[in-house]
Amino acid sequence: MVDVDSFIEEKLEEIATEVGDENAVIALSGGVDSSTAAALAYEAIGDQLTPVYVDTGLMRKGETEEIRETFSYMDSLRIIDAQDRFLDALSGITDPEEKRHVIGEQFIREFETVANDVDADYLVQGTIYPDRIESEGTIKSHHNVGGLPEHIDFEGIVEPMRDLYKDEVREVARELDLEEIISERMPFPGPGLAVRIIGEITEEKLEVARESNHVVEEELEEYDPWQALAAVIGKATGVKGDNRVHGWVVSVRSVESRDGMTARAQEIDWETLQRIQSRITGENETVARVVYDVTHKPPATIEYE
Ligand code: XMP
Repeated sequence: MVDVDSFIEEKLEEIATEVGDENAVIALSGGVDSSTAAALAYEAIGDQLTPVYVDTGLMRKGETEEIRETFSYMDSLRIIDAQDRFLDALSGITDPEEKRHVIGEQFIREFETVANDVDADYLVQGTIYPDRIESEGTIKSHHNVGGLPEHIDFEGIVEPMRDLYKDEVREVARELDLEEIISERMPFPGPGLAVRIIGEITEEKLEVARESNHVVEEELEEYDPWQALAAVIGKATGVKGDNRVHGWVVSVRSVESRDGMTARAQEIDWETLQRIQSRITGENETVARVVYDVTHKPPATIEYE
């Protein structure tokens, strides 16, 4: 990208020309990519664009409210509360790829309902360059919104940021005056907290994952990580009060990266790690242990599933 202003100008024109008088939809995830693509497309075609945010129940703490506020200027915004349907669909499923598959399918079902309702011909997507590279490989199936075009018949797909890297997307987001909470937010995977919970997704594990991720995001902000996260990785023995408990093990991870394809585990000072440990075990009755993940990518991936 040479210059942000001319990039934006060029894309506004491109989107308006491509969509013409038809309707378009975009899946808003709360992440910087889809938010930026939505802001760009909305500026280009206004209410011909319906941004759809599906609350899967696998989102970060406060995310739905932030979306509602940030995009309240878009009259066509749709927020779908699908939490119960996702939890039901995920019940009893432990295999990582099957979980992704179930989430992807349910997402498509929710999204398709709106796309049909507004008679959408075009799909706008926040795909960026590294997404295209990673999905060519076979590391993991990225449900993201990459599965949508194969399932729903659109006249065209609009991907205004397909050649950009993440840091360039953030530049565009700033230029479009997107709230800092979005433009500077860490990347968050499409399947949400589901890839930060090993084994079956239950409400109890989700609650631990949501609260722990919130603590980690807050406490590690000053380290400016590419991603900092917490995952519920299993159970272990602990002592709470006078009782031995069999509680959750939460793994904290913080990595530096340019594009997510490779990553380095960050060195975090002991005091910060201890503060994270004491907040997570203190605020969550069912957590017995907090560990820090020192593994780079490769050999590990950034997420846990
Ligand atoms: P991994 O865990 O593969 O993650 O090292 C690399 C980057 O991709 C994100 N990620 C996903 N994004 N759908 C997504 O949209 C997924 O299924 C998915 N899995 C991982 C991850 O958060 C990191 O930024």
